[in-house]
Amino acid sequence: DSVSTPVPPPTTPPPHKGPGIPPQGEYRVKNENGTVCLKANMAVQINISFSDAQNLTVRNVVNLKPNETTSSGTCDKERATLTLQSGLKTELTFVFSLNTTSNKYHLNGLSILAIWPDMKGKKRFSAHNDSLDYLRGSLGFSYMCQSAQTLEVSPDFSLNTYLLHVQPFDLTGDAFGSVLECLLDEDNLIIPIVVGAALAVLVLIVLLAYLIGKKRSHAGYQTI
Ligand SMILES: *[C@@H]1O[C@H](CO)[C@@H](O)[C@H](O)[C@H]1NC(C)=O
Ligand SMILES: *[C@@H]1O[C@H](CO)[C@@H](O)[C@H](O)[C@H]1NC(C)=O
Ligand SMILES: *[C@@H]1O[C@H](CO)[C@@H](O)[C@H](O)[C@H]1NC(C)=O
Repeated sequence: DSVSTPVPPPTTPPPHKGPGIPPQGEYRVKNENGTVCLKANMAVQINISFSDAQNLTVRNVVNLKPNETTSSGTCDKERATLTLQSGLKTELTFVFSLNTTSNKYHLNGLSILAIWPDMKGKKRFSAHNDSLDYLRGSLGFSYMCQSAQTLEVSPDFSLNTYLLHVQPFDLTGDAFGSVLECLLDEDNLIIPIVVGAALAVLVLIVLLAYLIGKKRSHAGYQTI
């Protein structure tokens, strides 16, 4: 059910105003005993392109609305899934896998089924990729990426995530494990650190200049 038909280049790029940063949702998957086995707090934006009735490429960027979205899924030892269903129109599935040798997990699969009103012709869009390598974490830890992150799935489907905090395996109670932060967040941290350090140096220089000036003027008084 993969869609990989080459899309003709858009003749006139539609003037598209982005929908802004999506709101963050809190999604849970429970196992048979009713305990939470997967947690994902995240803001999700869907970016897909499809052909309309005139065979023009339509690029659509849509925010997932948490209050209209339900979550379900499965938790197995080496595989965990999260399905987000928004109304009857959009279904997103995240597949995480755990390597029990290295005790590392990652997001290896993402799929979408969208049935949106502006889709002419087939009236639906679907795409998936099972060989992804995103959101890499270690067993017992949660993965966090506050920064905007783009998960490229196929040429016509990508997902933008913001304020993401996820743990697909080995949850204790309803609490996230220790955090592994993505590189994007660390890069964003470096800028304030550099600015702060520069300011500290500047304050030090001004202070030294002041003290030296004070000493000189003292010395001046003494010679007179
Ligand atoms: C949507 O995807 C297209 C193609 O990858 C990209 O050019 C565009 O910048 C994306 N838009 C957003 C808002 O992410
Ligand atoms: C699991 O991790 C081990 C050690 O890093 C590696 O050799 C092996 O190929 C991995 N298995 C899978 C299925 O990725
Ligand atoms: C699936 O993802 C991989 C890794 O990002 C990429 O190389 C491959 O082209 C994708 N497959 C499809 C059908 O888009």
